[in-house]
Amino acid sequence: MKLVVAIDGPAGAGKSTVAKRVARNLELTYIDTGAMYRAVAWKVLRENKEVTEEAILAAAKDIDVALEYREGKTHVFVDGTEVTDAIRTPEVSRIVSLVASLGPVREKLVELQRRMAENGSVLMDGRDIGTNVLPKADVKIYLTASVEERARRRAKELREKGHDVTLSDVERDIAARDKADMEREISPLRQAEDAILVDTTGLTIDEVVAKLLTLCRGAA
Ligand code: DC
Repeated sequence: MKLVVAIDGPAGAGKSTVAKRVARNLELTYIDTGAMYRAVAWKVLRENKEVTEEAILAAAKDIDVALEYREGKTHVFVDGTEVTDAIRTPEVSRIVSLVASLGPVREKLVELQRRMAENGSVLMDGRDIGTNVLPKADVKIYLTASVEERARRRAKELREKGHDVTLSDVERDIAARDKADMEREISPLRQAEDAILVDTTGLTIDEVVAKLLTLCRGAA
């Protein structure tokens, strides 16, 4: 049976960690849509000194973004170059909300995302999956946590990758990204009416995964 799961929520809510595990457990193809916006942002930074709207639209125009899901990890390619780790830097995070606010960028990536979900069972995570990309998803989850907890998680993740960041910087970046993602005109981040709210503050990854598996199994 085909199962389509949509997970949305703000930065650092644990979406990708949890989504990967749920997808593996239920044998769904995992599609990380944030990685696709990050891929465009990476290309903008590589090709330009200044990040302008024009530069973003030019970079997005004929970009080829591909995701390959292998052994529990999503590999990301831009025009054939692997950028899996390069798209996770604070520099990319800082400009990605601007990239994601532009209509032509969203139209292009949303079309690609819908095509990726056409065949087979998928679990897609992002900001507008339940509200816009896959409005008919079988299960919609809105995953969130307090700003403080999300900043702590993101700072730990970045430090583990060798980035020298302070908690207050990460918290400021996350708060700015929340604001930009929730207040943008096109497909802003919001909970779909039929999405189930899961607040992960104070919960372990195992607890959140268990909760989501129960919700998905209930719909299958
Ligand atoms: O989940 P993430 O932090 O990798 O997402 C990167 C950015 O991309 C985030 O600031 C918002 C944007 N995004 C979006 O606008 N729509 C999506 N479906 C996924 C991500």
